[in-house]
Amino acid sequence: MTQTSIGICLLGCGVVGSGVVKLLREQRELLARRTNLAFDIRHVVVRDVAKHAAGEGNLPYTSNAAAAIDDPAVQIVIEVMGGRDPALAHIERALKLGKPVVTANKSLLAERGPELFSLARKHGSCIAFEASTGGGIPIIDAISRGLVANRIDALVGIVNGTCNVILTRMTRNGWSYHQALTEAQKLGFAEADPTLDVSGRDAAQKLALLSGLAFNARVAEKDIQIEGVADLQSADIKFAGDLGYVIKLLAIAERQPDGRLALRVHPTLVSKSDVLAEVSGPFNAISVYGHALGHALFYGRGAGQMPTASAVVADLVQTAIGVVPLAFKKLNIFPDAAEPAQILPANEITSRYYLRLSVKDQPGVMGAVSQVLGQHGISISAILQHEVAEDADGVPIVPIVITTHRAQEGAVRASLKQIDALSTVRAPSVCLRIIDQPKEFA
Ligand SMILES: NC(=O)c1ccc[n+]([C@@H]2O[C@H](COP(=O)([O-])OP(=O)(O)OC[C@H]3O[C@@H](n4cnc5c(N)ncnc54)[C@H](OP(=O)(O)O)[C@@H]3O)[C@@H](O)[C@H]2O)c1
Repeated sequence: MTQTSIGICLLGCGVVGSGVVKLLREQRELLARRTNLAFDIRHVVVRDVAKHAAGEGNLPYTSNAAAAIDDPAVQIVIEVMGGRDPALAHIERALKLGKPVVTANKSLLAERGPELFSLARKHGSCIAFEASTGGGIPIIDAISRGLVANRIDALVGIVNGTCNVILTRMTRNGWSYHQALTEAQKLGFAEADPTLDVSGRDAAQKLALLSGLAFNARVAEKDIQIEGVADLQSADIKFAGDLGYVIKLLAIAERQPDGRLALRVHPTLVSKSDVLAEVSGPFNAISVYGHALGHALFYGRGAGQMPTASAVVADLVQTAIGVVPLAFKKLNIFPDAAEPAQILPANEITSRYYLRLSVKDQPGVMGAVSQVLGQHGISISAILQHEVAEDADGVPIVPIVITTHRAQEGAVRASLKQIDALSTVRAPSVCLRIIDQPKEFA
């Protein structure tokens, strides 16, 4: 059977780009057998051609991105440079020429997705972005195609491998956040500057992309309430463990009965019996609640060279055989065609809560705390009083952990403000959310 050649321009040949090269080379025969297509890399655009040519030779390196994209022998452009500039200009250039773009660039899509999708539509092109979220897990394919007959009610995911590595170490080894971060950096699971990951912003950008597709709405990072893991204390991991919970950084999107979306990323207590509690290290998992399917879990490697390359090459194939271009043209699910999401204000989001108070060792403290919570309509589910410890000034303090029934975020915030102002409270209280999966979302 004769094979049709598909010319590729690869923008970037770092971790992911070199994985794409490796996969296309290793699986050339398998891909040709399955598709009758030969995927030929015509140009590899990098900053430093000499560095690459000296290392891994035999690739058509160039630093002239414009000429590479414009080459008539290029049919599909793969963007794995990352960042905003010059990736944005290169993607726009390709789309204006009608060339489909495969990208792993979630931050660019989270910021400029609607404009880029609209540009692609205007020029009869398309964008494939499976690798932008969940690494190798085909979650975008599942949401946009496999679950197209479902009204999606919620997404609950562990979508940042760096934070999951840190939290796994803190939980298993009893380490502090800083110890766990240093180890994650040493092992290559965290960047030298880990801010985007540990602040929760990376997870929020992924949640924006996923929820845009799932709820057919335009979702921006600013619509999401974000708390990262950098302030998490090992004491709370331990106390949560005593109560039967594990702490995970979750990205949660829920459709409210009135259609508004509640969107948040924060450290969350999940029961040790929850499947998400078992998701450790760099693995990702995304729970999807579809009205017809019910609860489904997508689990796998959320980053790394070959898992991400697997998603990029899958997009490349689906683009080359016409599936992505057709879906992009026919399905009204992409954010450029959608209205801005109606967002439930953060203060109105309801959840169960874990509160840790540091109080003086004296009678009457719990009475005052319960009174404040009661005034705000917050009902206590359990109270755990721990042994007296000393604070930094040598003052005896008692850590009290309270779990609540469902309450509104605004009421919890207001009561903590009052509680922290009590003369018997020694330090700002810790407030974390608890979810009960799947019961809460089913
Ligand atoms: N790494 C992962 O596990 C992972 C997972 C999911 C998604 N992603 C996404 O995939 C994308 C790529 O990530 P990566 O980890 O592969 O990045 P990386 O290792 O830093 O590689 C970036 C590549 O792009 C090239 N590049 C950057 N700026 C350039 C410029 N101005 N002109 C020409 N070439 C330029 C670099 O060239 P030089 O080599 O010459 O410097 C390098 O080859 C990002 O959007 C990232 O968010 C990564």
